[in-house]
Amino acid sequence: MKKYTTISDLTNIPETIQEAIQLKKNPFLHKDLGINKTLIMLFFNASLRTRLSTEKAAKNLGMDVMILNVTDAWNLEFTEGTVMNLDSSEHVKEAAQVISQYADIIALRAFPSLKSKEKDNSEWILNSFLKHATVPVVNMESATMHPLQALADAITIEELKRKQKPKVVLSWAPHPKALPQAVANSFVEMMQQLDVDLSITHPKGYELNSEITKKTPVYHDQKAALENADFVYAKNWSSYESYGEVLLQDSNWMLTKDKVKNTKFMHCLPVRRNVVVEDAVLDSENSVVIQQAENRVYSAQVVLKKILEKL
Ligand code: CP
Repeated sequence: MKKYTTISDLTNIPETIQEAIQLKKNPFLHKDLGINKTLIMLFFNASLRTRLSTEKAAKNLGMDVMILNVTDAWNLEFTEGTVMNLDSSEHVKEAAQVISQYADIIALRAFPSLKSKEKDNSEWILNSFLKHATVPVVNMESATMHPLQALADAITIEELKRKQKPKVVLSWAPHPKALPQAVANSFVEMMQQLDVDLSITHPKGYELNSEITKKTPVYHDQKAALENADFVYAKNWSSYESYGEVLLQDSNWMLTKDKVKNTKFMHCLPVRRNVVVEDAVLDSENSVVIQQAENRVYSAQVVLKKILEKL
């Protein structure tokens, strides 16, 4: 594999999930694959799980890891042909090529602005690195996608499913701040590739990008949508139509014990307790959020392994 910026970079998703499950059983089996290879992780935004799980995955494969919080470095310029007489000190053209000399793989986290749909959809930060870096690039959550999270979610569902084709519901949930659509987008894209009965429930005005949801059924009655679900994935996202706006904070959309019942509860974390989901769900045996976070290691590890094998 030459890069992992979207789940479509995976040629065979079911096989990749099985490979990740095998890596989980024996994480150090390929501990020599990454010897003398370096992963550089660039963070434009905060992270707990992605940062630690990706570092752990790389170390399981024998790699060296360097981390740069981009806010500690020079302000980067991304526009071509600009006169750099304001705040930006370094152009991504040089930065990406320089970092590529120190790294065998570059991983990148860069959230959307949530101010300009066009700019965010252009994935300007991720695509600038793809254009100017000379080594493979891994997406650790970009403006519109979080493919490492989606792969960890798919691994978790595969481990826990009790029937061939489980019913999986992605449910919008309230949140006080405007959040990206990236996790929801990649989850939908991933589920569409698997043998699951996927539906989405959200209030009116929270439609995701129709180019991603395609024909996935959407319901505005959350309680009805959750009937007989095997998995519910709770996530807040800001409006895509009224781009980046918080239209509603209705606590009736919080995931409660009454609604979730015995359905497996999923969330990418971090999660706001008693806003997105009530304690009684998150602390119950049906919550699988810790297992999802554990699987972030093997999601990253299988991706890094596939890239290292092609270096
Ligand atoms: N789920 C996830 O990406 O967590 P972090 O933002 O903590 O990395």
